[in-house]
Amino acid sequence: MTAHSTQERSAWPQNELTRVPYWVYDDQDVYRQEQEGIYQGPVWNYLGLEAELPEKGDYKTTFVGDMPVIVVRGEDGTISAFENRCSHRGSLLALKNRGKAQNFTCVYHAWSHDLKGNLKSVAFRRGINGEGGMPADFDLKQHGPRKLRTETFCGLVFGTLSAETPDIETYLGEAVTARLRRVLHKPIRIYGQYTQALPNNWKLYFENVKDTYHSSLLHTFFATFKVSRLSQGGGVIVSDSGGHHVSYSLSHKGGKDEEFAKEGLRSNQEDFSLNDASVLDIVDEFGDGCHVQILSVFPGFVLQAIHNSLAVRQILPKNTQQTDLIWTLIGFTDDDERMQTLRMKHANLVGPAGYVSMEDGAVGGFVQRGTAGASCESSVVMMGGSSTLTSSSRASENSIRGFWKFYRNLVKL
Ligand code: FES
Ligand SMILES: [Fe+2]
Repeated sequence: MTAHSTQERSAWPQNELTRVPYWVYDDQDVYRQEQEGIYQGPVWNYLGLEAELPEKGDYKTTFVGDMPVIVVRGEDGTISAFENRCSHRGSLLALKNRGKAQNFTCVYHAWSHDLKGNLKSVAFRRGINGEGGMPADFDLKQHGPRKLRTETFCGLVFGTLSAETPDIETYLGEAVTARLRRVLHKPIRIYGQYTQALPNNWKLYFENVKDTYHSSLLHTFFATFKVSRLSQGGGVIVSDSGGHHVSYSLSHKGGKDEEFAKEGLRSNQEDFSLNDASVLDIVDEFGDGCHVQILSVFPGFVLQAIHNSLAVRQILPKNTQQTDLIWTLIGFTDDDERMQTLRMKHANLVGPAGYVSMEDGAVGGFVQRGTAGASCESSVVMMGGSSTLTSSSRASENSIRGFWKFYRNLVKL
């Protein structure tokens, strides 16, 4: 460590994606810039699943960055999203995580909004006995919460506040679009939802998702039981923008894995075995021999297909050092009983207490704690060179550099 104060920042050289200064993970100004440049900027924010809102009037509340948002299926059957903020003095309109509504009437002074977020009525608008009330020229249409443009794709609902955001398929690019369709190819069924509180900046989690290098090193279960090893076939797709990625691995061929064994890794516990090996039974449901696929959409969406455990994860920043990760475990409406059992069993791999992804919840906190006071230092992101391109090797950090490429275009750091 040098003798700089923690307030001082190291510079981030232009066009440099192989070094990431640590101040990006705890700087208040950066957090504020992200609200404007990213969440209110030209990106598609993941808002939820269509299956969460099956009927007219069904709504859920969520966030776009710091901004609270209502997502609702309207009378016409389409899904809208608007700020969860009353037109009057700014109270939350919807107070619950989800519910059914005919309108959104504020508890504070009863101003009422329809399911599209339009202000429809003001209590005592004409006053009482000819006194008080709103000015005669007050126009309801001139007031209201900000509305998001929404798009639904493969059962996913996305929203944006920017008129500049291209349509969702253009935003994702062809390769990522195809890989999303590969998994979400029929109507979705929801198995459950939980929120994991992460003790770290949102970017550390998003980098972790894109970090193909760590999976068979950090995750002992993955490597030991040959769920995913760098020595297995697979690859990483990075969108042209850099912001989105897909990593995938093919089934292990069986037998001894010399290249992996010679690294002498903590993660390779040759003498471990499972009492109940059925947790690793797989149905090749997509018919292509690819049994692990992780896909991310900048800035807050992950689609996971690990064996037969399918889930979407929503990454919601809370402040510089806290992030909510909302997991929704899914399957398909035509899952038979065997598939339901498999999905439940494989769900033991993931989540905050899972055999595998428990470690991802911890390691972001280790980095946050390890980099406290290191504002003048930076991390090394050089695996695989300096490329941000699609690669057949997962011993690379191409998709992490892609993340920073897209991020820096939006946040101008
Ligand atoms: S703040 Fe909502 S009606 Fe006054
Ligand atoms: Fe991981």
